[in-house]
Amino acid sequence: MKDNFGREIDYLRISLTRRCDLNCSYCGHKKDSEQRELTVSEIALFVRAFAKLGIKKVRLTGGEPLVREDIIKIAETVRSVKGIESLYITTNGTRLSEMAKELKNAGVDGVNISIDTLDNERYKALTGTDKLSQVLDGFYTALNTGFSSVKVNSVLVRGKNDEDAASLIRLAENNFCDVRFIELMPFSRQGDEQRLIVTERELLGRFPFLEPVHDNEKGAARYYTAEGFKGRIGFISPRSCKFCSLCNRIRLLADGRIKLCLGSDETVDVMPYINDGERLTREIENAILRKPASHHFEDGDSFRGLNLIGG
Ligand code: 5AD
Repeated sequence: MKDNFGREIDYLRISLTRRCDLNCSYCGHKKDSEQRELTVSEIALFVRAFAKLGIKKVRLTGGEPLVREDIIKIAETVRSVKGIESLYITTNGTRLSEMAKELKNAGVDGVNISIDTLDNERYKALTGTDKLSQVLDGFYTALNTGFSSVKVNSVLVRGKNDEDAASLIRLAENNFCDVRFIELMPFSRQGDEQRLIVTERELLGRFPFLEPVHDNEKGAARYYTAEGFKGRIGFISPRSCKFCSLCNRIRLLADGRIKLCLGSDETVDVMPYINDGERLTREIENAILRKPASHHFEDGDSFRGLNLIGG
């Protein structure tokens, strides 16, 4: 369906849980009390309603979606809903080497893996864990599993891991994967600090061999490549280059609330209608019509806790 600004909303991101086995400094993750999580059958009811409104693509996020014990069942269920044409997952990769095959068989088309550094010490400093080798196992397993896409997401924070850009770019040189640099957003106090943000423009200055690809699709990421590269380098720059006018997303949080914009605290609780398909669809439609024209990160708006949203 179209929202009030003429944008075709066809992409649903579902945060399955706030739980995560990492503790990344920029995420705003708080070890909070157990939170209610949608069950498989509730997820099915939601996705059916969303599909009726024209959602075709679904991404499962968290927290860390692979900490859900029933993740395979969830993937199968979502993928089998009429109208859903593709299913993706965004993961920190720590459990991917064991789960990639099963996820593929459950109908997951592609995976995005968050990797901010290839250095064990810095990984530990950033995530509070020493799971980097596990994550890299997961990454290489995913590359060999036959997914239609494997992408790496990296957030560079000045003074912490901006030096890692070069080795992350090499991942896209040597593998059939895209590496995307996501500008630091204000989900934690760190993200409020303008000077910590590493912009697309700065990185293009540092890596002048990157050339824009000819067939850049319209979306959040702008892609570049270079001579001899197997994959591409992408930039997702919500702050220095807003792409809100292209936004085609709507988000469902782990507790069943609908989030209208990554950069807005506004949510709509449609849980009360979960058992009435027609009403649920209507309420979701009304919610989508309230999606704001754009985020306002530049005004110093700060939204705590990406673990709640899943990016
Ligand atoms: N700014 C930008 N991206 C972030 N992510 C997590 N926190 C932030 C932040 N403050 C990224 C993760 C993951 C994706 C879901 O969001 O690294 O790749």
